[in-house]
Amino acid sequence: MSIEAFHRVKELTSELNEHNHNYYVLNQPTISDQEFDALLKELEKLEIEHPELADPNSPTKRVGGDITDKFQKVAHRFPMLSLSNSYSKEEIAEWSDRIKKSIDEDVEYIMELKYDGVAISLTYENGKLVRGVTRGDGAVGEDVTTNVRTIRTIPLNLKPGNYPSSFDIRGEIFFPLETFAQLNRDRKELGEELYANPRNTASGTLKNQDSKLVADRKLDCFLYYVFADGENFENHFDSLLNAKEWGFKVPPTEGRYIEKTNSVDGIMDFINHWDSARKELPFEIDGVVIKVNDYRQQRVLGLTAKSPRWAIAYKFKAERVATVLHEITYQVGRTGAITPVANLEPVQLAGTTVKRASLHNADQIEKLDIREGDTVYVEKGGEIIPKVVGVEISARKTDNGPHQYAAVCPECGTPLIRKEGEAQHYCPNESGCPPQILGRIEHFISRKAMNIDGLGPETIEQLHEAGLVSNIGSLYSLEAEQLLPLERMAERSVEKLLEGVEASKAQPFRRVLFGLGIRYVGETVAKKLTRHFETVEALAAADIETLVQVEEIGDRIAESVFEWFRDEENQLLVKVLQEAGLQFEENRSDTQTSAVLEGKAFVVSGVFSQFSRDDLKAEIEKHGGRNVGSISSKTDYVLAGDKMGPSKLKKAEKLEIPVISEEDFIQMIS
Ligand code: IVH
Repeated sequence: MSIEAFHRVKELTSELNEHNHNYYVLNQPTISDQEFDALLKELEKLEIEHPELADPNSPTKRVGGDITDKFQKVAHRFPMLSLSNSYSKEEIAEWSDRIKKSIDEDVEYIMELKYDGVAISLTYENGKLVRGVTRGDGAVGEDVTTNVRTIRTIPLNLKPGNYPSSFDIRGEIFFPLETFAQLNRDRKELGEELYANPRNTASGTLKNQDSKLVADRKLDCFLYYVFADGENFENHFDSLLNAKEWGFKVPPTEGRYIEKTNSVDGIMDFINHWDSARKELPFEIDGVVIKVNDYRQQRVLGLTAKSPRWAIAYKFKAERVATVLHEITYQVGRTGAITPVANLEPVQLAGTTVKRASLHNADQIEKLDIREGDTVYVEKGGEIIPKVVGVEISARKTDNGPHQYAAVCPECGTPLIRKEGEAQHYCPNESGCPPQILGRIEHFISRKAMNIDGLGPETIEQLHEAGLVSNIGSLYSLEAEQLLPLERMAERSVEKLLEGVEASKAQPFRRVLFGLGIRYVGETVAKKLTRHFETVEALAAADIETLVQVEEIGDRIAESVFEWFRDEENQLLVKVLQEAGLQFEENRSDTQTSAVLEGKAFVVSGVFSQFSRDDLKAEIEKHGGRNVGSISSKTDYVLAGDKMGPSKLKKAEKLEIPVISEEDFIQMIS
């Protein structure tokens, strides 16, 4: 081991941790993103060159990459209790009275927000994060440490301080609202079903097996309780202030995020403030939590089987109003997905006038038995779009029978279809249904796809109306003479439009493939497919079995791609675009160079000395092999570096799969 490297790794780790904390927890970065990336790259390189120095809590682990096969069950050292709920001032007063009966002295209460996410228990030993466990049944949870490490506001190594050598800290992992909204915007662009609310999505994300996906989702975490053996602090408030010094994200003392009071009136004032102010928070809360501050008093009060007697939650009522549902209409998305929409008698809800609300899908309408003319309840929860949550049956005056879900597309009249196991209906008339046509062209020209300058949604609509474009292919036969007579089409804008179209011919194959708007083929999938198949001919010829061999391509995507290329109109479209000069071949420079690993499936795991894990994966692909996420009987080789998990090694042994070293691998390909 090199002493210089050892010191530099230590130095970089501590600097990066500090910058990470400044950026994510304090919101006060002191260096630029580029400077941060340069430090991170340097550390990554050192860890590759000196695998013995790599640390599971290294800042390089923030980006994820490790796959968890199965989350291990772990018993909580301190059970994860829930809180008893209250909904009124009377209930809070009764709780406070009960406390006064057991405690014959002043009681100070700490009031906090009740974050609406998913509970997590973090264990630190000697200042290092060793485990992150979900609540589970309260006694036993699931070990999600690999995913927890990607959450930037959770410190991996604590700042120097008076922390106990071993302690647990509890908190709530959640989606900031803007991050959640962005996630849904991205999904919409891909024609994927939108996530209904931030809480469930946070919970699902935390249990995803792919830590890279978790890292990309950018979850956040507020910590709200410290558990340790022995007397470390006198009260809850001090423990949180200290936790802040160690690097945790705890509620800031300004802005009324956390406050002290001695009275029920004080508690009600806090509740009333947040009942309305919560709408301005950048994350969701579903109430407030009131805790007895003093640890000695907490001990006297003790616990019931389910919850501590020294704490109580006050839950806000979700904002909900009743209004009349005039009509159910349907929206058609780019991929043909149908969304039922409730057209309502306008009503004030959470500060805005609501005229339309989501009805999700046919099942939801049937389950709630929602009928036109009904008085319905509309709620605004975490969802951006308000939703109909129920019907006031007693107010039903109409003779309308159960709602008949649309049988045909509202835009083009084609009978709708619904695939087995899917909640949504689709309009299958891809080539003739106007919102689908326009949506597809808009997607094709969008920034992340072909990025065609000089063309926007309005122009597309104008061109469509003028009969000049009916599909993506027709963009490439537009001529100045056709455009100039149109309204708002000055010479300069026509020039710009045609230049933009011309320039798009140089966009690489992966962007073209993404732009085609095949369901479930997002940017990443497009990249994987073009890398693997290299030409559109090879991709179009691939059967489902071949497609699922590609890393990260599952049945759903494979089927969608397969079907897309079976469609004659799509085949024609590819031909037209090819003739127009678009790129349908992956640039060969970074693709396959040999076929020595043809058809072989590799699992790459651990830390390597000569290549990074990603480089090794790329090498495998370059030589015709493929990367798979987890070890199974279909795996041909396990390429093992340092610190590969013992469970993986065991599995490989059990299935008698050869485990090879980096050196063995280099031999194989040379
Ligand atoms: S204290 C012993 N404080 O609410 C500590 N919980 O039903 C007990 N929650 O599962 C929890 N914000 O995940 C506490 N400021 C807060 C909280 C909070 C959200 C969640 C927690 C728990 C649930 C209680």
